[in-house]
Amino acid sequence: MCGIVGYIGNKHKTINVLMDGLQRLEYRGYDSSGIAVIENGHSKIVKSRGKLRNLKKKLSRKTLSGYVGIGHTRWATHGKATEKNAHPHVSGSVSVVHNGIIENYQELKKELIKKGYVFYSDTDTEVIAHLIEDYYKNGLSFENAVRSAFKSIEGSYAVAVISDKAPDRIIAIRKFSPLIIAIGEKENYLASDISAILSYSRKVIFLDDGDVAILEKNGYRITDLEGKEVKRDVSVINWDPVSIEKGGYRHYMLKEIHEQSRAVLDTIRGRFSEEMGEVYFEGLNYKSFNNIKRIVALGCGTSFHACLIGKYMIEKISGIPVEVDLSSEFRYRGPVIDSKTLAIAVSQSGETADTSEALLEARRKGAKTLAITNVERSKIARESDMVIYTRAGPEIGVASTKAFTTQLIVLYLFSIYLGKNRKIITEKKAKDLIGEVLYTPQLLEKALKLEDEIKELGRNLYNYSNFLFLGRGPNYPIALEGALKLKEISYIHAEGHAAGEMKHGPIALVDENMPVVLIAPRNGVTYNKLLGNLQEIRARRGKIIFLTSGEVSEELEKHVDKTIRIPECSSIISPLIAVIPLQLLAYYIAMYKGTDIDQPRNLAKVVTVE
Ligand code: M6R
Repeated sequence: MCGIVGYIGNKHKTINVLMDGLQRLEYRGYDSSGIAVIENGHSKIVKSRGKLRNLKKKLSRKTLSGYVGIGHTRWATHGKATEKNAHPHVSGSVSVVHNGIIENYQELKKELIKKGYVFYSDTDTEVIAHLIEDYYKNGLSFENAVRSAFKSIEGSYAVAVISDKAPDRIIAIRKFSPLIIAIGEKENYLASDISAILSYSRKVIFLDDGDVAILEKNGYRITDLEGKEVKRDVSVINWDPVSIEKGGYRHYMLKEIHEQSRAVLDTIRGRFSEEMGEVYFEGLNYKSFNNIKRIVALGCGTSFHACLIGKYMIEKISGIPVEVDLSSEFRYRGPVIDSKTLAIAVSQSGETADTSEALLEARRKGAKTLAITNVERSKIARESDMVIYTRAGPEIGVASTKAFTTQLIVLYLFSIYLGKNRKIITEKKAKDLIGEVLYTPQLLEKALKLEDEIKELGRNLYNYSNFLFLGRGPNYPIALEGALKLKEISYIHAEGHAAGEMKHGPIALVDENMPVVLIAPRNGVTYNKLLGNLQEIRARRGKIIFLTSGEVSEELEKHVDKTIRIPECSSIISPLIAVIPLQLLAYYIAMYKGTDIDQPRNLAKVVTVE
């Protein structure tokens, strides 16, 4: 949540780098934004409420030069989404931008007020600015003032600070919130997310908790909180800068929907041998899983839905019992965990606070931990004993799409990995299952060909106010996911249910104003039962969108309003394919409604607060 960018150098116009970076970070938060640039020894601050375009408008009336600056885009935690609460926050010569939460800000605020500091905003961040200014004006160097301030600050933070009195540097510090520096030629960058600076430099240093980075035009240093120098490796990022552009699509979400075949292919590449019926994951050794008797899978939102499908996959293929928990529920319910438990945290961003905390709770209780995430060296990746990366590439649209299908393919491969090593499945079975993996990118391509049909369906349905999504088995979580996608981006009320539960309550909602999406790929063991649901909905005049595979008899066609035919595949792979038309349906309904698809109201891509 929130995004930070910083630049020092004169190769580019500072304001252009900041605005370009903020544009790429806007998906992380879009309540307000602001920049600070030091021009001729004075900080110029420009802030605006609302989307970045408001800040741009303000800046278009100004000329800002200067070769050092910081910027921020905000998702409000403390204090409303107003201009006065927008970052940067200023005290004396010091300007600060911050991601995270300062837990002891009220105590610090009281002390600072006693010392005569005046607070202008309702944010927790403003205490950082005053605290640094207090140390600085009382004789410490800028660097030492920042270090001293953070010795008394508790919470999670990624912070960038500049000062008029030290216009040759940016100081950055992090704890529990990501921050990277990127190295250029006689220029350096700072960002909370690689995508902000990827088009300028691919040489990146991931700061660790407690690192203080001092960026100058001609170099950088990293120290700990005591001022002792620390060495950090430089990583070369291989994400293609084109991957952070819209590439001709109207929205990131649509682009990312279309990238799923490629993303799945990248995610499986080099991870199996079809000939031997083997699956491998870099850095994983089966010995670590030898004594595992039970798995708990943890995630939020779409990643939680991936966990629910992972349960079907892992139990069916490896025979290990799996419990699935919402990360936000898990740690507060006193879960029973022991050293024979494997906790799997599934998270696109690798930063979701609830999932990170749930994973730490499992770890404290003795579980082995495995992260499945899309972001290298993210918090959750670093906190886990083992990591499997999905290789979806940057996902910018707030509604998760390609991250989900890559999570599913990883869970499927992981099931084969466990099943084969545990000798639950034979080599022949493993080869067959891997064969399905190989075929999945093609199936995804085929499913994407439904786009025109779904667009037309979206045009017919966008005026409805309520939707039901029903599915069974591994497609029950797809019903949840279809409903989540629709409500997130179109603001239409939608519910997902296990179709077998329909008669136990949801059927009361069905009438002629209720479109019901029935997810019923033909090969599932419950296909006939789903046909029973279809008749029950029909009898109550519900509008039926029948998502199936294979042939549909003329008789059956008569009972449905629309059939969506996905390509045929095994039941266990079908969730990956069935979700494609549902993502497209949500997208086109939202498009016809005219909502903000990539940045839906009240949401942020990365949820770093509990
Ligand atoms: O980064 P994560 O996968 O941990 O994020 C989890 C959820 O916040 C996320 O899936 C959210 O529900 C998306 N907006 C769904 O489209």
